Amino acid sequence: MRNFCTVLAFALAVNAITPDVVTFNGEHFTASPVASAAPQGQSTNAPASSSPSDAETFSPFPAPTQKPVSGVFVSSDPSSPPPVGSSVIPDFNPAWQAAYAKAKAKITSFTLDEKVSVATGVGAGVGRCIGNTPAVEAQAWPGLCLEDSPLGVRQTDFVTVFPAGINTAATFNRTLMRMRGVAMGQEHKGKGINIALGPMMNMGRIAQGGRNWEGFGADPFLAGETAYETILGMQQGGVQACAKHFIDNEQEWQRTDSSSNVDDRTQHEIYGHPFLRSVMAGVASVMCSYNQVNGTYACQNDKMLNDVLKREFGFQGYVMSDWSATHSTLSVMTGLDMTMPGDITFGSGTTYFGSNLTDYVLNGTIPESRIDDMATRIIAGWYHLHQDDKSFPAVNFNANKQLDQATNMHVDVQGDHFQIVRDIGSASTVLLKNVNGALPLNKPRSIVLIGSDAAPQPGGPGQFSDFGGDAGVLAIGWGSGTANFPYLISPYEAIQARAREDHTTVNWHITDFDTAQSAKAAAPASVAIVFINADSGEGYISVDGNNGDRKNLTAWHGGDNLVLAVAAANKNTVVVVHSVGPLIVEPWIDHPNVTAVLWAGLGGQETGNGLVDVLYGVRNPSARLPYTIAKNPSDYSAQLTLGGGGGTIIQIPYTEGLNIDYRAFDANNISPRFEFGFGLSYTTFQYSALKIEKISNKSNATLTAAWDASKPSPNGVGSSTAAWLHEPAFKVTFKVANSGSVSGGEIPQLYVNHPPSAGEPPSLLKDFDDVDLAPGRSKTVTFMLSRHDLSIWDVASQSWMRPQGTIKITIGASSRDSRLFGALPA
Ligand code: BGC
Repeated sequence: MRNFCTVLAFALAVNAITPDVVTFNGEHFTASPVASAAPQGQSTNAPASSSPSDAETFSPFPAPTQKPVSGVFVSSDPSSPPPVGSSVIPDFNPAWQAAYAKAKAKITSFTLDEKVSVATGVGAGVGRCIGNTPAVEAQAWPGLCLEDSPLGVRQTDFVTVFPAGINTAATFNRTLMRMRGVAMGQEHKGKGINIALGPMMNMGRIAQGGRNWEGFGADPFLAGETAYETILGMQQGGVQACAKHFIDNEQEWQRTDSSSNVDDRTQHEIYGHPFLRSVMAGVASVMCSYNQVNGTYACQNDKMLNDVLKREFGFQGYVMSDWSATHSTLSVMTGLDMTMPGDITFGSGTTYFGSNLTDYVLNGTIPESRIDDMATRIIAGWYHLHQDDKSFPAVNFNANKQLDQATNMHVDVQGDHFQIVRDIGSASTVLLKNVNGALPLNKPRSIVLIGSDAAPQPGGPGQFSDFGGDAGVLAIGWGSGTANFPYLISPYEAIQARAREDHTTVNWHITDFDTAQSAKAAAPASVAIVFINADSGEGYISVDGNNGDRKNLTAWHGGDNLVLAVAAANKNTVVVVHSVGPLIVEPWIDHPNVTAVLWAGLGGQETGNGLVDVLYGVRNPSARLPYTIAKNPSDYSAQLTLGGGGGTIIQIPYTEGLNIDYRAFDANNISPRFEFGFGLSYTTFQYSALKIEKISNKSNATLTAAWDASKPSPNGVGSSTAAWLHEPAFKVTFKVANSGSVSGGEIPQLYVNHPPSAGEPPSLLKDFDDVDLAPGRSKTVTFMLSRHDLSIWDVASQSWMRPQGTIKITIGASSRDSRLFGALPA
């Protein structure tokens, strides 16, 4: 039964490296392995925070039972997902079942302690990855390596720094989303990582939210599709993905001491949606967040973990805690499967799992069947990704000791992924203003570059710990969602390389506050390009009073004044913005001398090259804003909630409900400066010939007939991801033509307009595509709408339901630039 010798052995096996003082996500502490804190035969770990009174019962959730539907719901393995653009629904259940069978067989010989160890991280700063579970040598279980981040492999070298999540979403291009995912998956696998801690899919509810740039924008459908493609790609690349942070982790301020209070419908339609799509992508793991949800910590929230994620969405993988977000041993009964990094507080050597969990099983508080379920889920994730294959690389880097020669093999996993970075860089750069053909540049006689954001970082790209600082070009935000640059091409280098070809004279003035000198340098140039930025990140780092979240929506380093000074001196001023999210651009956007604006976001290591491709028309811009740019900060429907401290839990009421970002601007009739989905091109596009057809049912006729009649649907295991709900139900076709004089890509968008009785915002994005067209050419675009796309979450029946009345459809080039109108046939 209990075998503390084995527990100790695991810990020692993992901790061949001597514990010492480490820095971890901003905290300095002495790394201390958790399991070795318990001497043989007795548990000395800290007691669980809540004392159990009654023994808990448990039976594992059954796998959702769904039959394959030929051509619609097809058996898929993570290593061979459906191609981008396919309307089939991947059915990962057979792959999960095979993985479960192997995992169940594997744990039959495990002792209770061994099973518990599978779920218990070894402690912060211990082991070679940011999170580690111990090996069980006697059982040939290698343990797991978990490593950040959502934009590349963190804390090591010879890796690619991809554009941030927010840029990936701004491409509105599923092919690029998938390619980035595959490349990131390959790089993580190449380093021997089992689980990559991403993608991040919180919703950007607050424009100032510090980590919004890690995620996929402020619309659930866009975030859901980006999460789906990213996960399919990452897992195809061989790493287990981790959908994070579940759920409602929408601001950094007091993230551990706040309760996001969210109603059930909003939870299902907005914040839960990207996670639902992650489950549909076969995601192996989900990370629960630091915050409370409606008064209960997310990592012990029975409603969200057990009821919504595991039961309703039919999630087969495992839930891990965010780092130190576990609050009790009993959280295993409310859905938590793995505690990370394992210790209660970093370096404490104590854990809520480990021997505390074993004790709870031995005293009958927690049934062993639940421990079996946890270990099965975790080990199944490993089999699901075929990580049992002998060719799977061993961990070959040391996140906690990056300079240690013995444990860092410096394996180069970059391949030619720089090309994807450059492509996404240009495909995510949004053209917001372009007057009199200011762009693309055509061999200008002279260019002046103004602003520090144009140039390399004076102290090198890694000068700030976890990138917590803003000097030189901004290519990523700060915090755990980062990776070490192998190199960083700034606009200063990229533009000069191009200038050499064009015989353009380049000058620069790369300071921000000496506006008089900037104006003087700008005056004689054919074109003045002003670079401004705004940064944010994770709350454990504060930069210039920005505590993770931004303190305002203003450009940093006096950017507005810089633009105004240059525009006063040069009639052809182009503004380039590297920003983590929306900025208020009112001080200068209408200035007649500001002839063009490029919104470049966070372009990763090739940011300068990506920008050059758009500036010079090598790529015609097609990117779209993944959020709204308001005229006033107060126009956004949700604002940061401040206050708290001293352990007080601040309450964050999500009173705006479904009305976040453009939904709120539409609902409240507020004119934004630039709406969600907006972006210009160097050419023009025409839309025509809208046709909407109902598709004959392939799935269960009773369910679809009930849905047609606006009747509730069943709520059960996997009911929210069921094939009948997600199969194509309506086919929408129309034509897009390039009516301009240069080739270009258009992003047609489909918005659903529900009848007023539905209680929905006026317009909801429900599909998009990317269409490349030569001048004069046209193409028929096809969108398939599922019943889920057209449903609302009916709280009373706890099911997805068609609203009563006519559902209208708008096709357009943004959330407000509507071109074609139609309605669903009855
Ligand atoms: C972050 C996670 C991250 C983890 C490990 C936490 O602070 O919230 O996103 O994966 O640390 O670095």
